[in-house]
Amino acid sequence: MQNEPLPPLSLPTMALQPALAALAAIGQEHLLSFYSELPAAQQQALLAQVASIDLAGLPKLIDGYVKNKPAAAVSGSIDPVDAYALSGKRSASGAAWDRAAARQSGIALIGAGKVAAFTVAGGQGSRLGYDGPKGCYPAGAVTRKPLFAMLADWILAAQERFGKGNTIPWLIMTSPGNHRQTTEFFAANQHFGLRPQDVMFFPQGQLPSMEMGTGKILLAGPSEIALNPDGHGGSIKALYASGTTKMLADRGIEQICYVQVDNPLVRVIDPLFLGLHAGARDSSADMSSKFVAKTDPAEKVGLLCRVDGKTAVVEYSDAPVEMQARRNPDGSLVFSAGSIAIHVIARKFIERLNDGSGVSMPYHRAEKKVAFYDIARRTAVTPDKNNAIKLETFVFDALPLAASTAASGSITMETDRVDEFAPIKNADGNDSPATCSAIQTLRAARWLEAAGCAIPRKADGSPDCVLELSPRIAFDGDEVRSLVGTTLPRAIERGAVINLGSK
Ligand code: UD1
Repeated sequence: MQNEPLPPLSLPTMALQPALAALAAIGQEHLLSFYSELPAAQQQALLAQVASIDLAGLPKLIDGYVKNKPAAAVSGSIDPVDAYALSGKRSASGAAWDRAAARQSGIALIGAGKVAAFTVAGGQGSRLGYDGPKGCYPAGAVTRKPLFAMLADWILAAQERFGKGNTIPWLIMTSPGNHRQTTEFFAANQHFGLRPQDVMFFPQGQLPSMEMGTGKILLAGPSEIALNPDGHGGSIKALYASGTTKMLADRGIEQICYVQVDNPLVRVIDPLFLGLHAGARDSSADMSSKFVAKTDPAEKVGLLCRVDGKTAVVEYSDAPVEMQARRNPDGSLVFSAGSIAIHVIARKFIERLNDGSGVSMPYHRAEKKVAFYDIARRTAVTPDKNNAIKLETFVFDALPLAASTAASGSITMETDRVDEFAPIKNADGNDSPATCSAIQTLRAARWLEAAGCAIPRKADGSPDCVLELSPRIAFDGDEVRSLVGTTLPRAIERGAVINLGSK
């Protein structure tokens, strides 16, 4: 666990002879081909990389995922989840649920200092083509504030409203490749208004990239192994191994609000979601999820379902097309719960998954182009077709490991797409900076309009303005209602570009 100033990441290391012996035992000794030619510092760094790999477990991984493709993941019975729907009813039974009571329970948890925010920010963001940690990407529709700053605003907004003097710690999972840049960015930006001691960074683990067909680990250079972050599922291990869960326990924190770095609209600390997850009679679910209703069966988001009676996310690529297209008599999709990667996870659940009882997360295999160093030809190669297998774990694969009873295991809550989902993933088209800005404007416009503010609209119905509304000004549409005419305007001019409260 580190706050600033940050020393370089210190990795465990290994002596040469044991490293060579361990590598030779599994046919990977080529990784030390250039060892004797390297300066001492690089020799040590290379041995540290070797030490970071679970060498004993590698042959099983290579056999199961590199030389062979694992069988399709979905088997057994698949049913829709019984969600807390936006309609105010449970989706399976139609029974009404009490929104106000759940929200109050969540507010009580925040006020009692039992809640932390958690952002996974270790990904490589390769689709966006941005050179730097994705959280540094300018995302504010008007202010061009970075994603990290927008997430910080949500934490500050919750702290200001519900904290009762308690601060909300923010855990940030980096990867070894972006850890230093990330922490320096926070320091240079005064931690976006949060207390430095409340922002805690820890790096996730890495896995080696392996040559397709052979399973040989690739070298990125003579002194460097080709390693990739172990997926956001690596957070389950890293939260524990970094000492973060221990620190949370010491602070009396019980719930971890998990969000991705790419979605600036996400209500990072959501009293309603927290209350449904953990508020009932002091009992907490293990891990819960938010979703948006899919309208297009082909939308590429994971599907929250019940698989053999347990909540799970089934990747869109693994779910049968017929199943994804099935509709109810009213035309809605039977399997409509599109996962948007927002969870609350009980600290005790993370501790249980790490208690050494052998629970493990499955790996997912991706065929990728990975630049490598050709040992025989002593030259760097940039392949033009897929040459390697990368393995990752996904955080949602922890869902089926939750207790199987709905109440203590996992709850699923629907949220509105425009209210909470505008990820930046691609440079253009869907899920791009342009769509994210448009949704920021649309959400502010909807909330303002519902509160009586006049919003100019274009012929196609979209707002004819650009708006960025800070959560510190208004946490939700209800708050906007009380502010129109005072803090917020009664009318917006055509073509206006307005920053509503972002600092
Ligand atoms: C993910 C989900 C998808 C969901 C969508 C919602 C998967 C496989 N799919 O898609 O079901 O609908 O989000 O936006 O997750 N990260 C790490 N370390 C890693 C890899 C990723 O911290 O090793 C972080 C990223 O920094 C990012 C988040 O995880 O914050 C999402 O990663 P990404 O690979 O972009 O997920 P998607 O494929 O977009």
